[in-house]
Amino acid sequence: MKYFFGIYFLAIITLVSILGFQGKKTKNTPIEIFPDMDHQDKYLSQSENDFFSNGMSDRKQVQNTVQRGNNIHFQDVFNADYKNDRLENPSFYSGKDPDGNWMRGFPSGLKITNELLEDGKVHYDIYCGTCHGASGDGRGVTRDYGMLAASYHDDRIRDMSEGELFDIITNGKNLMYGLKARVKPEERWAIILYVRALQLSQYATYEDLNESDKKSLGL
Ligand code: HEC
Repeated sequence: MKYFFGIYFLAIITLVSILGFQGKKTKNTPIEIFPDMDHQDKYLSQSENDFFSNGMSDRKQVQNTVQRGNNIHFQDVFNADYKNDRLENPSFYSGKDPDGNWMRGFPSGLKITNELLEDGKVHYDIYCGTCHGASGDGRGVTRDYGMLAASYHDDRIRDMSEGELFDIITNGKNLMYGLKARVKPEERWAIILYVRALQLSQYATYEDLNESDKKSLGL
């Protein structure tokens, strides 16, 4: 029993000394049991370096090097007649027209197809439906937990430009977080296309239906 208390006491001291100070900041070198790849031989930028005659680690870019894919210098990288509607089109990534206003409609270079719409539905159901509801009325499953997401069927949002919708998905708005890290630009446009379809679905009139739709609905 005597030993038991001794060992018990020691074990507690050891535990407290290891775990008890975890939240504290210290300037001491940490104890590294598994250093993994914390320390690597490398040249840090702007550091001294004896290897090169000018004593600097930083090297100048090789002459005539052009950064690839920054959508500014395309003609320098590709043929002079190279055209890429999407990469050269800043609206595709910002939702703004060349004058800096939110654009109406979809950017050129994006083909509006049924496939894109279906893609939009897939991504909508993954990224938006939980809060905004399957039909976009703001009654997603998170509503019961206090998430009051907007309804797309309010006139204000029906009148909103595609560019502004793109920005809301990208950067979020008020309580809604942005989704740029999870949803690619093309997928964002696809989602907007689907949101437009959802909005239309609530306001469609008899005249909007084609003959076969009318027949299948028994109208
Ligand atoms: C985690 C829940 C959540 C998700 C996921 C979510 N939203 Fe929202 N959204 C909200 C909330 C909450 C608001 C209301 C924000 C406010 O006004 O404070 C909102 C507002 C909006 C608005 C209206 C903004 C305005 O001007 O009032 C639009 C449009 C919108 N969301 C689109 C989307 C789209 C498209 C997606 C999917 C890509 C999405 N949201 C995903 C919660 C969410």
